[in-house]
Amino acid sequence: MILVTGGAGFIGANFVLDWLAAVGEPVVNLDALTYAGNLRSLAPLQGDARHVFVQGDITDRPLLDRLLAQHRPRAVVHFAAESHVDRSIHGPAAFVRTNVEGTFTLLEAARAHWGALPAGEKQAFRFHHVSTDEVYGSLNATEPAFTESHPFAPNSPYSASKAAADHLVRAWHHTYGLPVLTTNCSNNYGPLHFPEKLIPLMIVNALSGRPLPVYGDGMNVRDWLYVGDHCAAIREVLARGHIGETYNIGGCNEMPNIEIVRAVCALLDELRPDPAGSYARLITYVTDRPGHDRRYAIDARKIERELGWRPAETFATGIRKTVRWYLDHPDWVADVQSGAYRDWVSANYAAR
Ligand SMILES: NC(=O)c1ccc[n+]([C@@H]2O[C@H](COP(=O)([O-])OP(=O)(O)OC[C@H]3O[C@@H](n4cnc5c(N)ncnc54)[C@H](O)[C@@H]3O)[C@@H](O)[C@H]2O)c1
Repeated sequence: MILVTGGAGFIGANFVLDWLAAVGEPVVNLDALTYAGNLRSLAPLQGDARHVFVQGDITDRPLLDRLLAQHRPRAVVHFAAESHVDRSIHGPAAFVRTNVEGTFTLLEAARAHWGALPAGEKQAFRFHHVSTDEVYGSLNATEPAFTESHPFAPNSPYSASKAAADHLVRAWHHTYGLPVLTTNCSNNYGPLHFPEKLIPLMIVNALSGRPLPVYGDGMNVRDWLYVGDHCAAIREVLARGHIGETYNIGGCNEMPNIEIVRAVCALLDELRPDPAGSYARLITYVTDRPGHDRRYAIDARKIERELGWRPAETFATGIRKTVRWYLDHPDWVADVQSGAYRDWVSANYAAR
């Protein structure tokens, strides 16, 4: 059995579903169910004895100790985090609490658990920390992509808190020998993505005829990876990654935000045409995010070279699957667009 944290969020839920389909090994899924956690994403697992859901916080050490003692997982896969840069600008405290203190608490609980395991289980145990390319900071248009040895230069409260967590994970390996693995991944997109992030926000706004807010000049560049490819990469690293190493994961797919938005509009024009005209008419440029990183690019050659992983989806195939999924799941979208979601969207965009 493995212990997954944050498995009711976007990537975590995709991972748990993917893991149970591909590997079948039972999962204890610990998630605090913040605004970003959604049990509806895990509905296909209802009645599946291989999935044990526990609502709880990664800063709760007694709970972590109880779960580890009861389930004796052979690995921890750590997704739980506050993950939205804009929210980290409005309220950084939650990011330090969950991403730094939460990761610290989980590391300490995992260290105590691992230290008491019999030799064979101790050797097999892994702590997999899921992190982001944002820890490396921002690139200009011509700089080479981030490798695993690129210096950390986080610029937002979100990326600073993730960088701090990455450092703790590294130190727990070097100081205590905890068998850790870290992956730093680029921007994910795909099903079950909370509609505060760019792609799902554009899809749900377009479908309800609302403006499509694009920050600044729309030329901020990100590398985009289909979430299913991220899940597959984590499976590979967990199975065969070298202890103490970090692996960059990316889609080899750098695109400016405005192109992403245009691609979403073009697919919606094809799949759900609006009699009022192309969805692109709704694109609205708004005041940029403070300190908005200009460009991220990932050099993912290490994971390809060492573990043979590379993305299965191109952006064209992945974005088509994604748009199709949102069109096919209006109930999921309606469910996550609760009052709290609407309040946040108006707080973030009203003054822009
Ligand atoms: N989304 C991306 O593009 C991306 C890219 C690279 C890395 N990551 C990393 O992947 C991980 C998952 O990202 P996501 O986009 O799925 O995030 P998300 O915000 O969709 O989900 C986070 C989950 O963690 C849970 N959570 C938050 N605080 C918690 C706490 N204190 N205790 C227990 N659970 C808690 C939430 O309820 C939610 O279910 C994060 O660590 C993030 O930094 C994300």
